[in-house]
Amino acid sequence: MILFLDFRGRDAPAPFILQRTLWFSFSTTCNGGLGSLVKSGGKPPHSKALRAVQANSFCQSPRAKRTLATKARLAAQSGLSLFLKEASAMDFHEVIRTRRSVRAYKSNPIPDDVLQRVFDTARLAPSANNIQPWRVVAVRDEAKRREIAHLCYEQDFIAQAPVVLVICAERYRDSYSWIENHMFLVDTAIFIDHLALAARAEGLGTCWIGAFDAQGHKGLKRLLDTPDSHDVVMVMPMGYPERPTAFRDPGHRKSVGEIVSFDAWR
Ligand SMILES: Cc1cc2nc3c(=O)[nH]c(=O)nc-3n(C[C@H](O)[C@H](O)[C@H](O)COP(=O)(O)O)c2cc1C
Repeated sequence: MILFLDFRGRDAPAPFILQRTLWFSFSTTCNGGLGSLVKSGGKPPHSKALRAVQANSFCQSPRAKRTLATKARLAAQSGLSLFLKEASAMDFHEVIRTRRSVRAYKSNPIPDDVLQRVFDTARLAPSANNIQPWRVVAVRDEAKRREIAHLCYEQDFIAQAPVVLVICAERYRDSYSWIENHMFLVDTAIFIDHLALAARAEGLGTCWIGAFDAQGHKGLKRLLDTPDSHDVVMVMPMGYPERPTAFRDPGHRKSVGEIVSFDAWR
């Protein structure tokens, strides 16, 4: 088993981040869990992991040593690719900080694999009793996108986005909660936030659209032929932002002091 501890500084430039990354490799041995911790100070751990394995006194036979050496080399390689993947992913806090409502989109289509990754991340959202009541209709058809914009109080920018997500959810009653029939909305809001953040991490802009009245809701259901058991909870255009400044620090937000108190309401 190879364990990498990542001590990258959040604000440091990329080469410096890499330089500051400390590698620790922990090589387990053939005798179940005994291991040696090796600090390899900035280099991929291949050679030190190998030496640690070979030096281990519990592995006497040359064959056992060879097997372990191969295992260590393979583990080090997969650890390295994991590290490289990690290094290229967006910082979690950066994703949250720079997600903004985007109301102008390029017409460029979203590649299928990108869209798939967004959905694949969003589906991990938690829900009460793990019910996962959400369903998404991803609308690419232009005429339908225009109709959706019309049903949402003529918010025309919605139709500009190459994909408009219509997020639906199945109603259910949560008898353990005082909000009973409304829990499906809580679940689905979490799912939608996962969608928006996963999209941001892919360089995609989104905007929550909750402004459609009962008539609009009926129209959306009719347009997409949704079953009676499901409501449309939110609409979300998704696409590459028209403006390079679209992802920026949030506007006004309440301070932590305004929204948090400890031990009692203050
Ligand atoms: C539940 C919900 C409904 C919203 N409905 C709309 C909407 O119909 N149209 C719109 O332009 N923005 C809508 N927004 C976006 C908010 O106006 C926006 O999130 C808020 O002003 C904060 O700005 P930011 O998203 O850029 O940080 C909605 C946001 C939420 C969470």
